[in-house]
Amino acid sequence: MTVAKMFDRQTELPNRDQLETDLELKGLQDREVGQLSGGELQRFAIAIASVRNADIYMFDEPSSYLDIRQRLAAARVIRGLVTATNYVVVVEHDLATLDYLSDFICVLYGVPGIYGVVTMPYSVREGINIFLDGMIPTENLRFREESLTFKISENADELQAVHTQAYHYPAMTKTLGGFKLQVEPGDFADSEIIVLLGENGMGKTTLVQLLGGKLEPDDPKDKVEMRVSMKPQTSERSVWGGAHRSVSPKFPGTVRMLLIKRIKSMFMHPQFNSDVLKPMNLEGIMDQDVQTLSGGELQRVAICLVLGVPADVLLIDEPSAYLDSEQRIHASKVIKKFVMSSKRTAFIVEHDFIMATYLADRVIVFEGQPAVSSTARTPEGLLTGMNKFLRSLDITFRRDPTNYRPRINKMESLKDKEQKQSGSYFFVDTD
Ligand SMILES: Nc1ncnc2c1ncn2[C@@H]1O[C@H](COP(=O)(O)OP(=O)(O)O)[C@@H](O)[C@H]1O
Ligand SMILES: [Mg+2]
Repeated sequence: MTVAKMFDRQTELPNRDQLETDLELKGLQDREVGQLSGGELQRFAIAIASVRNADIYMFDEPSSYLDIRQRLAAARVIRGLVTATNYVVVVEHDLATLDYLSDFICVLYGVPGIYGVVTMPYSVREGINIFLDGMIPTENLRFREESLTFKISENADELQAVHTQAYHYPAMTKTLGGFKLQVEPGDFADSEIIVLLGENGMGKTTLVQLLGGKLEPDDPKDKVEMRVSMKPQTSERSVWGGAHRSVSPKFPGTVRMLLIKRIKSMFMHPQFNSDVLKPMNLEGIMDQDVQTLSGGELQRVAICLVLGVPADVLLIDEPSAYLDSEQRIHASKVIKKFVMSSKRTAFIVEHDFIMATYLADRVIVFEGQPAVSSTARTPEGLLTGMNKFLRSLDITFRRDPTNYRPRINKMESLKDKEQKQSGSYFFVDTD
């Protein structure tokens, strides 16, 4: 069945045309639903739920497969459904998106597969801060030992990391069918994380594969030779093969066997066990067959593998995909700690804005037109880079005064207007 046909069948409200515009579905009308990409299908599914005339709307993980601009568009669509007589329930793992779209938040905690507790509805700000803190103040109950904060002072220690290695990659171009990526040359050092920021189709995965030597640049003499370890973007099963693969869902054995085969020395290492395997919670799935793992379980295994392979440079494409917010917090902490303590460098593609902000020491901003041509800028500081990226998206962020996490300003709000006027798209310290 085509997109247009399914729309015809489901439409009950007069909002279809607007939804098609807001969710970029105009060009997809004649496509078979079964042939949509992950991101296209997600946008279509949100639209299909939104053309119904309902008392209660429910959305389960609407941000999956979407880039940050699409996440905010989806959030606006979902908010737009709210009237005086209905309500909307959303399960969402991207905390910046959740923050942007909610009026109230219930936190769920407990032990996965055993029990769960749903809290009273909190205000948005309080709910997210409680979740990041790992503590329910009204119950005086700590449900996680670690908290996640974004204090500049916390990150400053790591920024003062002593760099002992310097690396360089040259200017490159890569043509793929009708798409052309230009890469500005870049320098980087050990003990730093560089986050790649750009909309879908801008060539982030292409750059990762160029840096990993998996794709050859247009001019072969620009080829980058580095000792890398790579975690491909998980949704692209087709690229999970070949010499640089980080995990193969086809592996005929258990997780333990896979880890022993691929990262034996790290697997045996007590520090790797306590710093990586334990917080990534692999114990429970250690003896499960790799082929039976869920998306989130595979992702956790893949993150452990990419860190465990001996390499100077880690290339990690979308680590948060398939992970819930709790696992994202653990994964962010594990990756950051590991990169710093082992003096590696990591290039990370990440759409979860909270995670990206927490991870990034510097950023590479992609500018241009998705699927047509784009430029990967040279690595630059977090502040100037985020500013550039957010300006291109026409979004501004402020900081939460409690834990300094980034919060998206509502479009056209006073802060949004002020920050745009002064050119501070990212993080002005306002309380
Ligand atoms: N092998 C290929 N042949 C033709 N086009 C490709 C190929 N691989 C990627 N592309 C296109 O290149 C563009 C950039 O892709 P990608 O690097 O995956 O972007 P991102 O990771 O930023 O979403 C997209 O328009 C994609 O369709
Ligand atoms: Mg990609």
